[in-house]
Amino acid sequence: MDKRLVVISNRVPVPDDGGPPAAGGLAVAVRAALRGREGVWFGWSGQVSDEPEETPRIQEAEGVTYVVIDLKPQDFEEYYNGFANRVLWPILHYRVDLAEFNRADLGGYVRVNQRFALGLSSVLRPDDLVWVHDYHLMPLARLLRARGHFNRLGFFLHIPVPPPDILQALPHHADIVGSLIDYDVVGVQTENDRDNLGRYLRTRGARRTGDPGVLATEDHRVRIGAFPVGIETDAFARLAAEAASSEIVTDMRESLSGRALVIGVDRLDYSKGLTNRMDAIERFFEHAPEWRRQVTFLQVTPKSRVEIPEYAAIQEAVSSAAGRINGAYGDVAWTPIRYINRSYGREDLAGLYRLARVGLITPLRDGMNLVAKEYVAAQDPADPGVLVLSQFAGAAAELPDALIVNPHEPEAVSAAIRRALEMPRDERVSRHAAMVEALHRNDVSGWAAEFMAALVGDVPPPAGEGASQ
Ligand code: UDP
Ligand code: G6P
Repeated sequence: MDKRLVVISNRVPVPDDGGPPAAGGLAVAVRAALRGREGVWFGWSGQVSDEPEETPRIQEAEGVTYVVIDLKPQDFEEYYNGFANRVLWPILHYRVDLAEFNRADLGGYVRVNQRFALGLSSVLRPDDLVWVHDYHLMPLARLLRARGHFNRLGFFLHIPVPPPDILQALPHHADIVGSLIDYDVVGVQTENDRDNLGRYLRTRGARRTGDPGVLATEDHRVRIGAFPVGIETDAFARLAAEAASSEIVTDMRESLSGRALVIGVDRLDYSKGLTNRMDAIERFFEHAPEWRRQVTFLQVTPKSRVEIPEYAAIQEAVSSAAGRINGAYGDVAWTPIRYINRSYGREDLAGLYRLARVGLITPLRDGMNLVAKEYVAAQDPADPGVLVLSQFAGAAAELPDALIVNPHEPEAVSAAIRRALEMPRDERVSRHAAMVEALHRNDVSGWAAEFMAALVGDVPPPAGEGASQ
């Protein structure tokens, strides 16, 4: 019998809570990882309240026990908006220039991690496997150990790991990123991330061991591995095929009046390269006049972290760029870019991806980018669309058959859009087949199973991979 799995993440999307569809790769992957086993998912309810209850709220749904706590306004400000999203998020996305550090926010981050550890103490059984997710909760292993929990503790980082020089720009990095050493297993998205983390931890005194995947300190060993997050490839493909005749897809198809559709789906976040993408689209209309009126760009962009100034700034920049391009190239019967700030459910997205001849995904940095994988899975294998993908998305390492672009070069992205729109069917079919095979090789259940195998200590002998760079 499998041991119980306790998953911990900042945001816990309790099903049927009446909110809009959850946009964000973590929630999608964790939900799939919990499917079919006894599991608990612990974290923040998404609610802020002046006097949160001391004891967590418990709710059973779809075989999972959800255990959630509310945050106080000060916690929300210092921990979530402050240290997690104005310091860790930019630095780990290579944007030291955007980091806004202050000690109060760091204090809030540690305080909320302590609250998580306290709340978990009432939930954890000695033989539970514990799997902590993402940058909000890096110090949790250290805090749980201090409370006397000796469970196997795993951590997965959904976002990138920059090189040590950049991590060292984080004030007090040793207490935050350095504390990852206290887990038993740390998983990251790509080999590049794994190499960067291994190098960083070695600057903190961790030593190589005989096992290239394992680093050691005086009294502890940690396995570090690349576990690229996958999707539910077949289920998503079925969803997309079924959605082909749904209302939203029918409406969309009719509104296109035979024009080609290019789709982008991203949280409104500066890491997603949205302004660069707008520049590339502008360049495309400038340099490919024969495509004007023949193509519509749909950019689905749910708002994210709205109280953070850098996020407000990106909204301003993207909407004004879209307005500028529509003003310059649109006419009474055609709007070049449809820019939408709301989230859609998975069925709707699956159908829209399948309708689109091009998926345009050009983040400046992204841990993985599940939208890229979903776009591929959603295509009709006999007549698939083409994925244009940034070299800086984690997904690019697994999908070399996409048209890989540098998002910092608008001319190159513009040329790739054109090439994608004009690509002969044979080439589209063969690129798509290769990408679907890659998605099958590593789908989300494989991702979860491999991480869990490492967490229980059941790992195959090393085959040239590891943290020993
Ligand atoms: N998503 C969604 N509705 C939306 C926009 C996005 O359900 O309106 C989902 C999308 O299908 C994907 C996830 O949110 O599964 C986004 O994950 P990704 O790794 O691409 O980016 P993240 O938001 O985690 O940075
Ligand atoms: C990314 C992060 C997740 C986060 C999600 C949505 O996927 O890796 O940890 O939950 O974005 O962001 P939010 O701040 O709304 O939770």
